[in-house]
Amino acid sequence: MRKKVTVVGAGNVGASCALWLASKEVADVVLVDVVDGVPQGKGLDLLQSGPVEGFDVQITGANDYEPTANSDVVVITAGFPRKPGMSRDDLLMANYEIVKNATEQAAKQSPNAVLIIVTNPLDAMCWTAFTVSRFPKNRVIGMAGVLDTARYRTFLAQELSVSVESIQALVLGGHGDTMVPLVRLTSVAGIPLTELLSKERIDAIVQRTRDGGAEIVKYLKTGSAYYAPAASAIEMVESVLKDKKKVLPCAAYLEGEYGYNGLFVGVPVKLGANGIEKIYEVQLNADEKAMLDKSAASVQDLVNVIRQKTASQ
Ligand code: NAI
Ligand code: 2OP
Repeated sequence: MRKKVTVVGAGNVGASCALWLASKEVADVVLVDVVDGVPQGKGLDLLQSGPVEGFDVQITGANDYEPTANSDVVVITAGFPRKPGMSRDDLLMANYEIVKNATEQAAKQSPNAVLIIVTNPLDAMCWTAFTVSRFPKNRVIGMAGVLDTARYRTFLAQELSVSVESIQALVLGGHGDTMVPLVRLTSVAGIPLTELLSKERIDAIVQRTRDGGAEIVKYLKTGSAYYAPAASAIEMVESVLKDKKKVLPCAAYLEGEYGYNGLFVGVPVKLGANGIEKIYEVQLNADEKAMLDKSAASVQDLVNVIRQKTASQ
């Protein structure tokens, strides 16, 4: 029997997730959105590309969660992307309500699913989904590190005129300006990056990686990136459904690892059939740890805002 993946939010990221899932024949897909007709229409349109592309999966759209029952994985992309004039806190609380609602309903229909969260602010939304679903921590995972690392690898491959596949790299931390690309552990087929590029060029690429989302928002003006984010989420889904046990940087609930407690932070994890099967603790030097501390503190700040604003609920 084919696996089943629900994608909540049939907007730019959600529809692109459905496209990757179908074209790679990863699973049957249920698209859910609050807007009447949009998940149904996009689902049907995608389904009709099957004969051309040669894939055999079912794609359906819905405005409720009943058709999502017994999904193996639920990807949550529902929520607002950042727009001009919106404060970070506005986005935080608006998306908190959306992710809370989506998680409650999806978890009820698919109590054994792995939840993969995409909605921003990512790490705080993971905390929301974890708290609301009460799923075990291995089954709530955030997508950000795969995307941030993909951007870093893309920029390095361009700079060095080599295949993106030859770049090994890792970006840790929260999904924001304080993310931590680990330069010391970046290599080109095992050759340390620091032997291939000047510090000045590396610093510029690290900064471009940190600003990677904003660079695309600036071009698009009305929304944020979606092709690479969706591809990143689907790499995670595939690793879970095929039990590939890929080691990927993902937002994981930490209980003591790296010195953080009760917080989602981007760290390397092994993704298999049980979701997060292992969290790897990389030995960090003092500078790297200081950067990660700063990043974790910014995640904690957002979680604190949610806690304060929902204290009376
Ligand atoms: P979009 O605006 O294109 O799509 C969002 C969809 O969510 C819309 O179709 C909307 O109708 C739907 N929606 C709103 N409330 C809903 C609800 N309660 N239930 C179901 N669906 C609901 O936005 P886009 O570009 O798809 O981005 C979605 C989210 O993903 C944003 O928060 C964005 O910031 C985030 N994102 C995160 C990335 C990451 O690296 N973690 C990367 C890219 C985007
Ligand atoms: C990105 O990094 C908006 O988080 C999204 O493109």
